[in-house]
Amino acid sequence: MKNTNPIGLFDSGIGGTTIWQEIHKLMPTEDTIFLADQKNAPYGTQTKEAILALSHKNIQYLVDQGCKLVVVACNTATTNAIQELRSSFTIPIIGIEPAIKPASLLTKTSTIGVLATKGTITSDLFTSKLKLYPNVKIIEQIGYNLVTLIESGQLHSQEMKDLLQLYLLPMVEQGMDTLVLGCTHYPYLTPIIKTLIPEHILIIDSGEAVAKHTQKILGEHHLLTPHTNKGSTVFYTNVNPSILQTFAPEDIQVQQIEF
Ligand code: DGL
Repeated sequence: MKNTNPIGLFDSGIGGTTIWQEIHKLMPTEDTIFLADQKNAPYGTQTKEAILALSHKNIQYLVDQGCKLVVVACNTATTNAIQELRSSFTIPIIGIEPAIKPASLLTKTSTIGVLATKGTITSDLFTSKLKLYPNVKIIEQIGYNLVTLIESGQLHSQEMKDLLQLYLLPMVEQGMDTLVLGCTHYPYLTPIIKTLIPEHILIIDSGEAVAKHTQKILGEHHLLTPHTNKGSTVFYTNVNPSILQTFAPEDIQVQQIEF
C-alpha cells in the first residue's frame, strides 16, 4: 500500500462531513474520499445485519478506489459492525463511538447525557461500555427523527427545535452538565441546542479525537503522506447531491454515483 493513497470515509450521509472536516483540518495534505450512502439513510433505525451489510459495501467501494485506511464516520455503523468489518478487510479501519470517557472525566455533577441513534444506544458495544462508568449517571436518549430531518434539509425547522427540546429538557432536569453528541450528524445541531439548554452544560463529540487517532494509526503503519501541498478531496453520494452540497466545502463539487 502506498502512503500517497487516499484516506476513505463513509457515513449514511451528511454526518460524515463533520468527521471529514476534522481529518482535513489535522491532515490537510492527505487525499480524501468521502462516501455518503444517503440512499440508505438513516442507518440508526435498521437491524445490525443491515448496518453491517451496508458498511461492508461502502468499505469495499473505498478499498476498490485504493484507500489506504477507512474511517467509519458513523457511530451507528461502528457500534454495530466494527469487529466484523475489521476482520473482513486488511487495511486499518478506524471507528467512532460516543465520547463517554472524556465526558466522565469532565462532569462535575457525575451526570452525563448521551444523544445518539437507536442503533447506537441499543448496540452491544455501547451498552457494554456503559458498565465501565459505575459512578457516573448516564442518561441515554434516542434522537428519533433528527437524522431524517437533517438529511431532508430541515436542520433549521421548528420540528427540529421541538424534538430537541423534548429530548434534552428531561436530561437537564436530571442534572446533566455534559452532553455527548453520539452521532456524527449532531454537531450541526450544536447552535440550536445551545439556545435550548443552560450555558454551563458542556457539549462534546468525538470528531477531533477520531482525527488524532487516525493520524496516529497512519503513522504507526508508515502511511502518512509525504506530500506538502493541499490534498485532493472527493465527495460521493448515491442520491441527488443538492442537500449534501450545502454541507460540503465551497470548492468541492459533490458527485452522484452508483454504489
Ligand atoms: N451519522 C451516523 C451516526 O453517527 C448515522 C446516523 C443514521 O444514519 O441514523 O450514527
